[in-house]
Amino acid sequence: MGITHIRTPKNFVLEERLERYADGFETHPKTFAGAWAEACYPLPCDAINASARQHRNRFDRVELDLGCGKGSFIIQMAQKHPGTLFLGMDSEPLCIAYAAQYILESGLRNVLVIPRGADALPEVFAPGELDAITLNFSTPYPRAHDARRRLTTIDRLLVYRKVLAPSGTLMLRTDSQPLRDWTLTQLEATGFRTLWVSDDARADHPEFPASEYETRLVERGARIWGVCATPDREPSPEQLALGRKANPSLMSYLPDDLESLDYVPLGMEDAVKNAINRRRRAARRQ
Ligand SMILES: C[S@@+](CC[C@H](N)C(=O)[O-])C[C@H]1O[C@@H](n2cnc3c(N)ncnc32)[C@H](O)[C@@H]1O
Repeated sequence: MGITHIRTPKNFVLEERLERYADGFETHPKTFAGAWAEACYPLPCDAINASARQHRNRFDRVELDLGCGKGSFIIQMAQKHPGTLFLGMDSEPLCIAYAAQYILESGLRNVLVIPRGADALPEVFAPGELDAITLNFSTPYPRAHDARRRLTTIDRLLVYRKVLAPSGTLMLRTDSQPLRDWTLTQLEATGFRTLWVSDDARADHPEFPASEYETRLVERGARIWGVCATPDREPSPEQLALGRKANPSLMSYLPDDLESLDYVPLGMEDAVKNAINRRRRAARRQ
């Protein structure tokens, strides 16, 4: 079983887990659209005096980790930034069960997970509600055929533009230079302005804690590629059309000399091996 699969431990009953850790996730997220910062604010009324309550009855910021996995990134962020509400979304119930467990065990009151996939974004958040969206090690779907499933397609980026505040940020961190570089074409097409682009985001942006995947992939020799961008001018139809023409196969963003790669991004191992073998066979035929 590869690193992309989540192992289910023996005697693990998902429904039981979800029931036990139900306070760590929100099953009716649409109800909170437009009101996350207030609705989730932990107001221990007897502990907060009236004047403090007047001045402070909402979180300062709301940040989303889309594809949050088991939630380690948002839990660490919530520890560091108590005035911010951190929400995690993931389409995989097993991840939600783990994330909810770890959230409850942390005792933190500014972090919560939502058992929904990216398609639900426009129903779960009001326009301009999010201060940041983070995509940590998003599933890369390297084949052209699957490109529409990536979390940084033009269509997804147009949705992020809507739910992000005007000065909000979208950050991608990944072990895949091809995914980062393809994402740059999609960001440009959708009128995002890049705030930073990094070929070593761990060194350049140590303020962001490591997610589960980051820890595992760095152990295997990965470097972290990143980009952070903010919505800028509305994209023109020509700009969008140009972005839709970007080569969707992530193979085309790898260097020509595949044999020189000291690390192959997650999900591209077989494709790289096959391409190397094809080239060797072709060279032998010449
Ligand atoms: C490679 S894992 C990364 C998990 C975590 N962000 C990390 O860095 O450790 C990708 C995660 O994205 C989730 N995912 C994939 N497609 C999604 C979608 N359309 N909406 C929400 N989550 C998605 C998967 O269930 C998985 O948990």
